[in-house]
Amino acid sequence: MALPSHFMTSVLSKPGDTGANLFGFNVTLTNTNNMPGSNTQGLTMARIDIAGGGLVPPHAHPRASEVTLVLTGTLLVGFVDTSYRLFTQQLRVGDSFVFPRGMSHFLYNLDQKEPALTISGLNSQNPGSQISALSNFATKPAILDDILKKSYRISGQDVERIRKNLGG
Ligand SMILES: *[C@@H]1O[C@H](CO)[C@@H](O)[C@H](O)[C@H]1NC(C)=O
Repeated sequence: MALPSHFMTSVLSKPGDTGANLFGFNVTLTNTNNMPGSNTQGLTMARIDIAGGGLVPPHAHPRASEVTLVLTGTLLVGFVDTSYRLFTQQLRVGDSFVFPRGMSHFLYNLDQKEPALTISGLNSQNPGSQISALSNFATKPAILDDILKKSYRISGQDVERIRKNLGG
C-alpha cells in the first residue's frame, strides 16, 4: 500500500562529499528506492555539490533534459549541440539553465575556494549519465589504443597518461 512517506525524501538535504571525486563534484539523486512515490512519474531531482574550482565535466543524460537552479555560487555552464555549437552562460544565485536531452554539458564552479550548489530537475526517473572523458579513457574493457590514438590524434603515451589520470 502506498504511504504518504513514500512521496517524500530527505536525501537532498545533506551535501555530498566532493573530496574523493576526481573532478570535485558529487551528485545526489532522488530515485524509486529513496522516494518510491516517484515511480512512473518520469522525474528525478538532483543535488549537485561542486567544490571550489570543481567541475562537472562534459557528460550527457541519454533519457532526460535537465533544468538546473543555482542555490549557491557562480557557475559557468554550457552544452554542445550536434553541430558542435557551444551554448554557454555564466549563472549566479537564482539563475536557471536548461540542458536539452542527450546533449553533452558541463558545470564549472568559477570560485576557486567556495563550494557551489545547484538543484536540478530531470524529466526521467532513470536519466542515466555518461561522462565523455570516461566513456573514452576509463571503459572496461579498455578501448583499443589505436582507436583512441586515431580519434584524438595522440600518441600511445598520451593514451596511457590520460587513462591513468582518469583511473581507467
Ligand atoms: C558523495 O557523497 C556521499 C555522501 O557524503 C558519499 O557517501 C559518496 O561516496 C560520495 N560520492 C563520490 C563519488 O565521491
